[in-house]
Amino acid sequence: MLLSQILLCVACFVLTESKTKNIYRQEVRKFPDQMLFGSATAAYQIEGAWNEDGKSENIWDRLSHQDPCRITECHTGDIAANSYYSYKRDVEMIRELGLDFYRFSLSWTRILPTSFPDKINEKGVEYYNNLINELLTYNIEPMVTIYHWDLPQKLQELGGWANPHIVDWYTDYARVVFELFGDKVKYWFTINEPRQICDMGYGTAVFAPLLNESGYADYLCSKHILLAHAKAYHLYNDEYRSKQGGTIGIVISASWLEPESDEHTEAAEDARQFEWGIYANPIFSEKGGFPEVMKQKVALKSMIQGFPRSRLPEFTPEEVEFVKGTSDFFGLNHYSSSFVYRNESVYGYHREPSLNDDVSVISYEDSSWEGYHTKMVPWGFYKLLTKIREDYDNPPILIAENGYDSLRSLKDDDRVKYYRQYLDAVLDAIEEGSDIIAYTAWSLMDSFEWVRGYNVRFGLYEVDYESPERTRTPRKSAYVYKEIARTHTLDHNYEPDISVPLSIDEGH
Ligand code: NOJ
Repeated sequence: MLLSQILLCVACFVLTESKTKNIYRQEVRKFPDQMLFGSATAAYQIEGAWNEDGKSENIWDRLSHQDPCRITECHTGDIAANSYYSYKRDVEMIRELGLDFYRFSLSWTRILPTSFPDKINEKGVEYYNNLINELLTYNIEPMVTIYHWDLPQKLQELGGWANPHIVDWYTDYARVVFELFGDKVKYWFTINEPRQICDMGYGTAVFAPLLNESGYADYLCSKHILLAHAKAYHLYNDEYRSKQGGTIGIVISASWLEPESDEHTEAAEDARQFEWGIYANPIFSEKGGFPEVMKQKVALKSMIQGFPRSRLPEFTPEEVEFVKGTSDFFGLNHYSSSFVYRNESVYGYHREPSLNDDVSVISYEDSSWEGYHTKMVPWGFYKLLTKIREDYDNPPILIAENGYDSLRSLKDDDRVKYYRQYLDAVLDAIEEGSDIIAYTAWSLMDSFEWVRGYNVRFGLYEVDYESPERTRTPRKSAYVYKEIARTHTLDHNYEPDISVPLSIDEGH
């Protein structure tokens, strides 16, 4: 081997190693000037006022009331962070942080209490108009999620996302919100995290509506979510885009799935396709439709199990075309990573039939990774961003969520470390050509963390659930994030003085 080849190998090794270890970089690094920084929440997690001013019941109201102790400490979203009444403070927090945008979601049953557009609830509309106007007064861009998991209970009783009619029900709702708010809202997210909706709500009994029918209901849900998203996209494109001038896309959650060793490369790729390729492939790939590997694996398993056809529903050729290309950006939620392996013992390890059995892999988190529920694995973010760039022809990526849950403390150094390391990964990807247009910290404040209730805390601001007004106080991470957004610079050595109140800078 020539000396130059040896040196090249050493360089490659160092590079690969540095991408798979948590490196705390020292140099000060700059983000592109046009990259936007913001923070996010979702309606059910913060609003409260669950049955006030005409709002009707959604599936999380039903779950938390009917089966309360399925949620940690029997918590509910009845009051949550009280944002229905405290939205001005929420906007003030975004101003304190000096952010470009606020991503929040609309509650379907607050706007359409019957689920359908036959009755529009003026009070609900007024709430969102107030919030949007308050943001615009201070030049903060509202980024609006149309659906973040809180399906009207009435639609659930009709089958929810397993009923093909939901494609029209959802599109009717989308039309109402484009009409109501589209003159002021220029960024729309159709649906947040289809995987969590379908796998956790329809495939398992973790999230509402606790259907627990994996291998059928989760796949039906996936298909209808994709069609509903695409129909709303086309509606916006054909009827609203020219007069409202906005942009619209879906938000897909993706973890990084790393093969345990080279021998498990294929298993890890299968796992990625079943986890998020199922949503990304139909929209962002050239060919469209569900990923080939899914189609083959589910068809084979279904046949062996004695089903007359694949449990994975097909898209017609027209539907494939209808869904393809329906996102102006790749909305991405990312938190953490897992190792993946295939093992013969996987057969019989998972319930049959089920999505997990269909993919036939086992995934796990490394015990050395730091973290409570979210493990800190920044190199996984880098690998994920790289893969999205390579597989889908470098789409603009809007990072719609990224964040870390920590203990209740104002001095959240671990969260600070997470944000810095993950933003380093973002910068690495940008340097290699990824088109990252925005970064969103999850979450602006502590909130109802679904089945984990209020004990799992993701907030830049701590919420005091003991106080009637749900007082919000900035954590150290809020000070650090503000500095990153203000300077468009990542400086690991910046130490904020958290004894000085976080105040609104001039111009915000
Ligand atoms: C993603 C979801 O969109 C959000 O609702 C949730 O709170 C975060 N992940 C953290 O688990």
